[in-house]
Amino acid sequence: MEVWHRVEQTRRYARGRGADERHAARTAEILRARGADAELVLAGLLHDVAKPAETRLWHRVAGVLLEPLPVLRRRLAGGDGVLARYLDHARRGAEEARRRGAPDRVARLIARHHDRPRTADERALHDADRAALP
Ligand SMILES: [Fe+2]
Ligand SMILES: [Fe+2]
Repeated sequence: MEVWHRVEQTRRYARGRGADERHAARTAEILRARGADAELVLAGLLHDVAKPAETRLWHRVAGVLLEPLPVLRRRLAGGDGVLARYLDHARRGAEEARRRGAPDRVARLIARHHDRPRTADERALHDADRAALP
């Protein structure tokens, strides 16, 4: 997908309050409508749980622009600042899900939700995540 289209989509996504909560609920809803089981639906609901509450539009746009630069992205994802936590939200979200008692399958799906899908489950979450963007 063309990068400026993604930036524009990100701008639309972040408009208004509670964008991440809306997106999480929508992702879970799409999975449920597509016949996913309860664990997969839970992964949809929790996949972005570690996105910091302080996330601003520029963090999100930086995330899009850094996608083709994995080495720099990894470097910026270290530490405890908002950008680092935003860029690292998949790994941190998996830890948070485990802390909340989510099954291992759910945590693993969350950890990999920004990686290239390798299984049918990962593909289902990946597709629902994309479909739940405005
Ligand atoms: Fe995410
Ligand atoms: Fe997402």
